[in-house]
This record gives sequence, C-alpha cells and structure tokens, in this order.
Amino acid sequence: FAGAEEWVPARGGLPKLAAGLKDCRGCDLWEDAEQVVPGDGPAKARMMLVGEQPGDVEDKEGQVFVGPAGRLLDKALAAAGIERDAVYLTNAVKHFRFERKGKRRIHKTPAAGHITACAPWLTRELQIVKPELVVVLGAVAARALLGSGFKVTERRGEAVELADGTAAMATVHPSAVVRSEEYRRDFALFVDDLRKAAGLLS
Ligand code: URA
Ligand code: SF4
Repeated sequence: FAGAEEWVPARGGLPKLAAGLKDCRGCDLWEDAEQVVPGDGPAKARMMLVGEQPGDVEDKEGQVFVGPAGRLLDKALAAAGIERDAVYLTNAVKHFRFERKGKRRIHKTPAAGHITACAPWLTRELQIVKPELVVVLGAVAARALLGSGFKVTERRGEAVELADGTAAMATVHPSAVVRSEEYRRDFALFVDDLRKAAGLLS
C-alpha cells in the first residue's frame, strides 16, 4: 500500500486531522468500510490510549470505542480511577477490516501492511496531543508503536518507551477481556494495568 502520508496535514490540530482522514486512500480498507473513525478526546490529554481498529459498531457510528470493547474499556477506566473524558482514545488503524459471513461482518485483524500504511495518522496524533503517557492496547497497537518484536503477553504493565521517547505501557486489548473465559480474573488484571499506567503520570 502507498500509505497515508500524502493525506496527513502537516499543520493544524485535531479537527484538521479528522477532516483529512475522510479522504485517506492510503490502503484498501476505506473501500468496504462505512466510514473512517478518528481519534477522540482533548488535544491536551495527558494520556493517550491506542487500540487496534474500529469495530462493527464504531464503523457504523463513526466514533471510537462505542461498541462492546468500548463499554468494557469504560468500566475498566472507571475502576482504575481514570476519567474517560480526560484521555485521548484512538486506533492504530482508522478503518474497519472485516469479512462478510451472511449478514454479519466479522472482525479481521489488520495486516502488517495496513498497520504501516495507517501509521502516519498516529504519528501526527502523537505530535499534536504530546501525551505524557501512551497506553498500548493489544498486539496491533504494540506492533504499530513498539515494533513487531514486542510481546504484550510478556511485557504488559511494564514502563517502556516509544521510538520518539514518549513514556508508554502496553496491556491487552479490551476485546480480549470481553471474550475471555476467565472474565473476572482478566478484567481485574486489565484494571491493574490501567492503574499502573495512571501511576506513571507525574
Ligand atoms: N476496538 C478497537 O481497537 N477500537 C475501537 O474503537 C473499537 C474496538
Ligand atoms: Fe487510510 Fe488508514 Fe483508512 Fe488505510 S486504514 S485508508 S491508511 S485511514
């Protein structure tokens, strides 16, 4: 894929970025998705959380984390004492990738090529928001921000750094907790990680 670079405005804030996103043709995912889903939250947020890609509900509504994974994230943030409205939420990939099974649209993990193609948007969000801490949710976001060698399962909850020096911490993706057979345990572990993240803020 050519990548998003040519559609990313070099100047301006989050509204300009969201406007530019609508035209992006940096990979093939815009073709089948309903709409692009921009990041959301205050431009001065101290904490940025990065997920994978919009889900079915997000694709229909055009908003980040408003489906089942978002509801779980809301609960976990509240349990960790983090205000959702105070954090900036976004995804590594801005269009929904899926397969059709009859009438249903089934989530499909973005390929390495989609993650690379979409990365310029995330880079620009980091430049605009300049978060003190980035919380990396799951393997796709980890691949985008910490490289393909980073193993979330081994290093969740650890204080790490992005390539640009921004403080970061990786944890699991909330949708993994939604689907977990050990929900109570995995929810508690996820909340623990979010508490650790809050503790990394100065
Ligand atoms: N999963 C994500 O990674 N992001 C969303 O916005 C919704 C579900
Ligand atoms: Fe552009 Fe990212 Fe959408 Fe691909 S997924 S078209 S790179 S915004």
